[in-house]
Amino acid sequence: MTAVTPVRYEERWHPVRNAQLTIDPAFTVGPADRRLFGSFVEHMGRCVYGGIYEPGHPNADPRGYRRDVLELTRELGVSVVRYPGGNFVSGYRWEDGVGPVGDRPRRLDLAWKTVETNAFGLHEFMTWADEAGVEPMMAVNLGTRGVQEACDLLEYTNHPAGTQLSDLRRKNGAEDPYGVRLWCLGNELDGPWQVGHKTADEYGRLAAETARAMKLIDPSISLVACGSSNRRMPTFASWEATVLEHTYEHVDYISAHTYYDPSDGDRASILASAVDLDNFIREVVATADHVAAKQRQRRKLRISFDEWNVWYESRLQSDLDRRGWVEAPALIEDDYTAVDAVVVGDLLITLLRHADRVGVACQAQLANVIAPIRTRNGGPAWRQSIFHPFALTARHARGTVLRTEPVSPTYDTARYGEVPVLDTVAVHDEETGELAVFAVNRGPNDLPVDLDLRGFPGLRPVEHLTIAAGADPAGTNTEADPERIMPRPLTTPTIDGGRCSVRLPACSWHLLRFAPQP
Ligand code: AHR
Repeated sequence: MTAVTPVRYEERWHPVRNAQLTIDPAFTVGPADRRLFGSFVEHMGRCVYGGIYEPGHPNADPRGYRRDVLELTRELGVSVVRYPGGNFVSGYRWEDGVGPVGDRPRRLDLAWKTVETNAFGLHEFMTWADEAGVEPMMAVNLGTRGVQEACDLLEYTNHPAGTQLSDLRRKNGAEDPYGVRLWCLGNELDGPWQVGHKTADEYGRLAAETARAMKLIDPSISLVACGSSNRRMPTFASWEATVLEHTYEHVDYISAHTYYDPSDGDRASILASAVDLDNFIREVVATADHVAAKQRQRRKLRISFDEWNVWYESRLQSDLDRRGWVEAPALIEDDYTAVDAVVVGDLLITLLRHADRVGVACQAQLANVIAPIRTRNGGPAWRQSIFHPFALTARHARGTVLRTEPVSPTYDTARYGEVPVLDTVAVHDEETGELAVFAVNRGPNDLPVDLDLRGFPGLRPVEHLTIAAGADPAGTNTEADPERIMPRPLTTPTIDGGRCSVRLPACSWHLLRFAPQP
């Protein structure tokens, strides 16, 4: 056998020329839906217990919500939060989480080999969501349960009054219906790991019947059918096609989940993760449109990308194997590096680029479990590196997403072949006239970029922020050093005749802001 000499990331760079980027208000994708900046709270590890909720913590309010985590959630700019799972929901009885806390049962959670106390349930989540200023997105259990339990939960949650379940909600302290608009029909039921795993036909039929019944109770809700757990599933695309054959007319979204694993240390490939996300979205859209064509459906389905992130997945099994049945163990508490922050920024760029077909996106998860916010039980909360690109994108991606077609040098990756070094998207706020340009230089060298903004006469640059991972790629934020990875300002470029040039340092994420001349 011939030995293969590994190619170093630096050697795979194709130094061609300056990259070129033209941005014009005429080339629109669609509105930057606030729901693209969603997150996810699952009963998993320390996301709920010790994350958003920790009675007795010095910073907890009288209801047990950690004020520091609430503040960081608001700062993160999260718009919608999916709850209560995840794999957890596929064995969950929602009734366990309502009524007097002292009467709630302790249960085995089979998904995460955990004891669930049910101290936190529906009402606690809804009140927290209200405090955090986020829209709740609920998932129903279609693993071990079915149409009836989903309808019961919806009636309890959204029906005003005068029935056993709605009056029970009122008795439990919520006089007004919660009015939850977004509902997931189960979670990852294509996955053999899922409690109640199903074939596409089994799930498709169940989801269609559940959807029909739920819309009889509340026609104003939007429903998400489960797509594949990830693009590598052997049933990917055929699962979506079969499920949509059953459900297309009853649902509003098809879900997609994806996680990118940097564990193998292949930095060139992990930095190109957004190329995979881009292809994934195109393939789900093509599959949905194929079913629409077959069924003569005129309504275009959108994707709910309700789980996405960077995740060092190889560490999960050891976390699970290490222990017996316990409450709220530390699970997959990944420490995110500066490179991971660049990848997360690029994934957001890609989600925005598909804003015409991706209507919801939830980064998984919010606190501790592969999360932008980390806490210590009884101790402080801090921002992980990936917090920053999310917060800045959520804050500044307002208005209309514009299509950009950068001309860029390329580099080779083991996972995705030859990929562009530069990735970009722009968002134009017609009300304020502001333009936000998000960019990533995936390459190991500085990248000069020539920007053509002649389509925006009168705009001037106001800010250039970066997270540059080149100097400290493995750096992470910790309790002791919570601000090691932060966005830093670069010299604001000057504009001349609608053109300007910027230099993007190696392996970096960028926000360039432009505003009308005062
Ligand atoms: O977010 C962690 C887990 O990843 C979720 O519970 C599951 O849906 C996915 O596989």
